[in-house]
Amino acid sequence: MATEDWIDVGASDVLAQKALQAVRVGRTRIALSFKDGRFGAISNNCNHVGGPLGDGRLDGDYIVCPWHYWKFHCRTGVGEPGYEQDQVPAHDVRVENGRVLVRRESSSKRQRSPHEPHPLARTPTREPGPIRVLGISTTVMTPDQPRYSTSDHLLQSAMGAAADESACETRLVRLRDLAFRACEGFYSKSARACTWPCSITQMDPADQMERVYEGIVHWADVILVATPIRWGNASSLYYKMVERMNCIQNQETLAGKHLLRNKVAAFIITGGQDNVQAVAGQMLAFFAEIGCQFPSFPFIAHSRGWSAEDMENNERYVQNSTSLHEGAVALARRSADLARVMIKDNLGDNALTRGGRKGYRFDELQNANPAPDPSSR
Ligand code: FES
Repeated sequence: MATEDWIDVGASDVLAQKALQAVRVGRTRIALSFKDGRFGAISNNCNHVGGPLGDGRLDGDYIVCPWHYWKFHCRTGVGEPGYEQDQVPAHDVRVENGRVLVRRESSSKRQRSPHEPHPLARTPTREPGPIRVLGISTTVMTPDQPRYSTSDHLLQSAMGAAADESACETRLVRLRDLAFRACEGFYSKSARACTWPCSITQMDPADQMERVYEGIVHWADVILVATPIRWGNASSLYYKMVERMNCIQNQETLAGKHLLRNKVAAFIITGGQDNVQAVAGQMLAFFAEIGCQFPSFPFIAHSRGWSAEDMENNERYVQNSTSLHEGAVALARRSADLARVMIKDNLGDNALTRGGRKGYRFDELQNANPAPDPSSR
């Protein structure tokens, strides 16, 4: 019979129809499982970043968190083998007169084993030294069959001038050389499931997007992104990269945490066909939303036009265009100059306060601080 201590959560024949579900026991949410004719009840809140275990799935006797796949025993709440020191509270369950009763007080406490923070999780700090320019090429090509790329060539001119004329440190990342996974939509599960560092980066040591994060968040003062135009858009690798950078923007909007400070972004956009303004507009919007500043005239661009089909001539044109290469050099120079001013005079927190698309106390903040789970105390 239900009492103050034992809470009736529903009819056993109904609840037994689902292997896993979330139910309420007073103010506490419980992941209720039914396996091999037995009910199990553990806290619904995952130890990692609070994922809803009751929305996960069963893998043998373990509940797999739907956010990042940590596993907890469905009856004891103990972490999977190798992670037993991680434990979510378990609750006693009994079936009486066709009703499932769950004990309000948990029979075990939450335990968190220490997890080494990912190296990217360190606080971004600008080390003293010259201005650092990170060039990012987003051009796709077969690595062992290199071809001429107009945007790459202009990026090289910009990077060379940054090193030689502006005495900058330079680093070039070619996205085509990196093996990295596409964003898998953690944000779509919940804003809080999209973590910094990126959930994929934390789970998959082979994923090389880490090099882009390291360069942008921890190293660069200037980020120079070069892209071709493909069907009126930036390259597919550009989008693959920026989708993975949602976690940077999400820190602004969800956690009020500024990963990028005093960073300058600028762009090199070239295409056989047109749409420069739309491509530039989208790139500007994205990099603005992660907290970057822009020099005057923040991009250089070239396109041959919609009716042009003579790409050999386009290549020759860019290769030989003094004006385009001077433009790339000038872009690097004014980006480095702006970074120098910003770092010297440090814009400070006012430049970033209430930044991001959602510059107010939005619903996600509420969700990030849900009502306490009494069983986790
Ligand atoms: S694995 Fe559960 S919240 Fe990340």
